[in-house]
Amino acid sequence: MPTMRNGASFEGGNGARRSSEWFDRQDLDGFLHRSWLKSSGVTDDAFRGRPVIGICNSWSELVNCNVHLRGLAESVKRGVLQSGGFPLEFPVMSLGESLMKPTTMLYRNLMAMDVEESIRSYPLDGVVLLTGCDKTNPASIMGAASADIPTIVVTGGPMLNGRWRGREIGSCSDCWHYHEELRAGRITEADWVEIENGMSRSNGHCMTMGTASTMACVTEALGLTLPGGAAIPAVDSRRRHLAEAAGRQIVELVDAGLRPSDILTREAFENAIRVLHAISGSTNAILHLLAYAGRVGVELPLQLFDDLCASTPWLVDLKPAGRFLMEDFFYAGGVPAVMAQIPELLHLEAVTVTNRTVGENIAGAEIINRDVIRSASDPLDAGGALVVLRGTLCPDGAVMKITAAGPELLQHEGRAIVFEDIHDLAARVDDPELECDASSVMVLRNAGPVGAPGMPEWGHLPIPAKLLREGVSDLLRISDARMSGTSYGAIVLHVAPESAVGGPLALVRNGDLIRLDVSKRRLDLVVDAAELEARRSSWEPPPRKDERGYRQLHADRVLQANEGCDFDFLRGKSAVVQDAVTYL
Ligand code: FES
Repeated sequence: MPTMRNGASFEGGNGARRSSEWFDRQDLDGFLHRSWLKSSGVTDDAFRGRPVIGICNSWSELVNCNVHLRGLAESVKRGVLQSGGFPLEFPVMSLGESLMKPTTMLYRNLMAMDVEESIRSYPLDGVVLLTGCDKTNPASIMGAASADIPTIVVTGGPMLNGRWRGREIGSCSDCWHYHEELRAGRITEADWVEIENGMSRSNGHCMTMGTASTMACVTEALGLTLPGGAAIPAVDSRRRHLAEAAGRQIVELVDAGLRPSDILTREAFENAIRVLHAISGSTNAILHLLAYAGRVGVELPLQLFDDLCASTPWLVDLKPAGRFLMEDFFYAGGVPAVMAQIPELLHLEAVTVTNRTVGENIAGAEIINRDVIRSASDPLDAGGALVVLRGTLCPDGAVMKITAAGPELLQHEGRAIVFEDIHDLAARVDDPELECDASSVMVLRNAGPVGAPGMPEWGHLPIPAKLLREGVSDLLRISDARMSGTSYGAIVLHVAPESAVGGPLALVRNGDLIRLDVSKRRLDLVVDAAELEARRSSWEPPPRKDERGYRQLHADRVLQANEGCDFDFLRGKSAVVQDAVTYL
């Protein structure tokens, strides 16, 4: 029986590979499995006795960030063949941030189910996940974690840096920035079209440190992808080299029997959280890491993200919090260079898909450009970026990316302007009669996992036009929604419990005083308890939006933000199919 580096054994049937249950049997089932495979033109020599490697591809023409993954799959196949494996590519549902409505997050768990059940039910010994756009990465990892056969992730890589009139522009941090410039009349419609044309110059995912880039970096920090893989631009030939290497490595991983549950340990999660803070990554990563932990049975409280924040230096100067873009990050040394700056904060003994440790993977990694990646002795900030708040407005927690906020708003008191939902917001935000000033606190409710549904990225509430014209550039904004990883501002997100299930956000009224104190990690609704109780007794949940199908399932079973928004029944894992007999 093959053994892993740590001495554990692979549960592959009777010590044999899973696929041999399908292809090596001499009964009618074996005949059927082989004969239909041969319809593709392959011969016995191509697959008999070889590990079968699934290439789980989230390619789709509806998902622009993943549209190049068919080509990347060819590189993976080459690698698998070089190592004596038999590659089979298969499609799964794909989730595109820019086109899918109301939000890809509504469908993350559905894609995860597709990935899990595809892996579980087919004769695969190992799998390479091809991912790119924001939710395709976590959905694939969640599914693979529950299926728990040897797995390597290959992310699609970021787009080249955007360009406009000699300036580097990033998707989509500069969309928000220039849209506000347009609304304030500081750029023209013609400028706006030029920006649209210069923003997305190549295949790949958004090239700021948005959610897709963050999840690629976090995947690398977890040990699920080959070292250095997160930052290589999508169209750089070195990404195809990486994919080919992953194809070779997955065969070794199958032989070693190293599975996601061996890699996704508490120590690996702590490494990922350290890197998340060091790169000033997207708040969305918190939700996804919580969901992964639930799949593999690791205790990962929301509070841990805050506990590791203050002691982790912010090192990577990328938009939206900083200045540069992913292409620059790649040339500067990428994730290995970041991790090599903070070895004392990492669990260097954690094992990875290289079948080596984190410490071995990052040995010798150097910063090439110290403007883009700062050294640990010269950080952008001594502490990390993402804090967890608690208080009367968010008893189960809320999150805030403090590096994206104006420092003057991190301690703030102001009167609430409440928007009942996204439609109310759209209708009133630019109304000249809207009562607001620079101290106002914008509150959006019914934007959470159940209420929206799917917790869309509505948390980056637009600043009222009349305040923009007065020169106000930031405002405290609070919601039970998420925010694009490319957004910025004094924005409190993921308020739990959400308003649609009766969280305190549902009880806020116009003019209520709200107090934020980031130094104390507090967010409070300063309203008398008796008054709040009276409001609660007359509160009624909003009508359900979905009465059938997947969306009804989502509303019934989705967990709150502080638990990662997975479905309650998807936590943990199920045994993969080992018995390939057809029961007629
Ligand atoms: Fe796909 Fe941004 S739209 S990563």
